[in-house]
Formats: sequence, structure tokens, C-alpha cells
Amino acid sequence: MATAEKVAAKSAGTQDAVGLLISDHREVKTLFDKYEKLAQTKAKASDRQALAETICDMLIVHATIEEEIFYPAARDATEDDDLLDEAQVEHAAAKDLIAQIKDMDPGDELYDAKVKVLGEQIDHHVQEEEGELFPEAKKSDMDLRELGASTATRK
Ligand SMILES: [Fe+2]
Ligand SMILES: [Fe+2]
Repeated sequence: MATAEKVAAKSAGTQDAVGLLISDHREVKTLFDKYEKLAQTKAKASDRQALAETICDMLIVHATIEEEIFYPAARDATEDDDLLDEAQVEHAAAKDLIAQIKDMDPGDELYDAKVKVLGEQIDHHVQEEEGELFPEAKKSDMDLRELGASTATRK
């Protein structure tokens, strides 16, 4: 990124990459909680499906950004291959479940269960990112502000 852009990003109060990713984590957690309420109250299939689609699409965008921008930079800077390999496998598992949910009808027997399990998997993954990966990234020489700018642009 050019210096002028960097300055503009800073003065616009652009969040750093970790801040942006954590905002996504919070946002999707809220939606999973909302889904849980819909499932418990046996809400209309169309309402559950609309929310599940929103969750799935949000997770796809988030995972893509991490895989294209954040993870490669973190792998370089932290050299913690084990942690990043694990994150990659968790993304693959989540994507598989997302594809199943997108293929299903909200009236299908396991639909709510799949959304719930996806939420649990994401909770676990988020804990590892926020508890291990992000602190390591912060300790490293990664330019999180510049990565934040490219993350926001890519999004
Ligand atoms: Fe994440
Ligand atoms: Fe992730």
C-alpha cells in the first residue's frame, strides 16, 4: 500500500486486521444465538433458512479473507505452522458443514442440528484464533494495520 493510502487509512480510523476479524466473530455469534432462539420456538422454515443463509454467507466471506490475507501473513510472521494447519483444517470442516446446510431444506430433520453444530465448531475455532493465533500475530512483526486495510478492501 502506498504511503498516502496508509495515512488515509489511519486517519479514517481503519481497524487493524485483528480488530476487524474479532468484529466478525462477535457479529456471527449474535446471529447464531438468534438462530438458536428461532429453533427453540420452532420458527417458520423460511425465517430459519434466511438466517442460516446469512450466517453461512458471512462465514464464507470471513474464512476467505482469513485464508487469502491473514493466515498467509501470520504463517510467515509467526512460523507457527501447527496452529495455522489446524485453523485450515477447521475451516475445511466448517465449509463442508456449510455446504450441507446450503443444500438442505429447512424442513429436513437435521437442519437445526447442523446449524447448531456449526455454531459450536465456530465457537471453538474462534477461541483458538482469539486465544492463540491473534496474540501471536500481535507479538510478531506483522503490520496489522496495513493488513486491516487490505482486509476491509477485499471485503
Ligand atoms: Fe476468524
Ligand atoms: Fe478462522
